[in-house]
Amino acid sequence: LGRAGILTPTETELAVRAGRIKVDGVVVEDSLTALRPDSVVELDGRTVPLSYRRLVLAYHKPAGLIVAGTDPEGDGTVFDALYRSLPEELRHFHWHAVGRLDRATTGLLLFTNDERVVQHVTAPATHLSKRYVAETGERVRPSHADALVSGVLIDDGEARASSAAIRAEQEIELVLMEGRYHQVRRMLNAVRLTVVRLHREAVGGLQLDLPVGAWRQLSDDEIRSGLGFDLEPARRA
Ligand code: URA
Repeated sequence: LGRAGILTPTETELAVRAGRIKVDGVVVEDSLTALRPDSVVELDGRTVPLSYRRLVLAYHKPAGLIVAGTDPEGDGTVFDALYRSLPEELRHFHWHAVGRLDRATTGLLLFTNDERVVQHVTAPATHLSKRYVAETGERVRPSHADALVSGVLIDDGEARASSAAIRAEQEIELVLMEGRYHQVRRMLNAVRLTVVRLHREAVGGLQLDLPVGAWRQLSDDEIRSGLGFDLEPARRA
């Protein structure tokens, strides 16, 4: 239901508790009930079409929001902010964040209704580039950039930038092919640079082209050429 944009997971949970969902004529008691390919799902007595189109949204994440389900302490989650700004026709999908950005990081974050897009973009084997720009607390020198490209040791092994370019006295651009936890911050710390601000400008061939807090839907062609993800025909959720 979430993939097909009919009910978000929370809405599904509430609908199940209220006995509004049937599968093959039987009222469902668990929102994780398994479906067969030919199962008929009804909501309020009406059969719901479960075919879905793969959708991807680009979002300019502001600083302060967390990429997690809940945020009891801070400014809220990116999901709260996204759902609030979506029109009715996009509000009932189960949106998955494609990878994570730290609370303080700004920039391009993708959302999708299809977990396979998440797997594709985040798998190291896909070799999809992520371009970051970091403002540092110290002056960046060519030796820093060289070390980041040669490889530095962080707690979970060696990490290497595929390119590193000095943009200003205290600003460096890094392109990474993977996305380990806090990777940019840890790599810069490994060469004794501290991160004052971190921003993601691009994922694969997709450049951030939105004001802070705004989102837009990507075209099929952007998903194909920007993310290297081949679209299949619409599927059944
Ligand atoms: N690397 C980090 O350290 N933080 C991010 O948010 C993204 C990449």
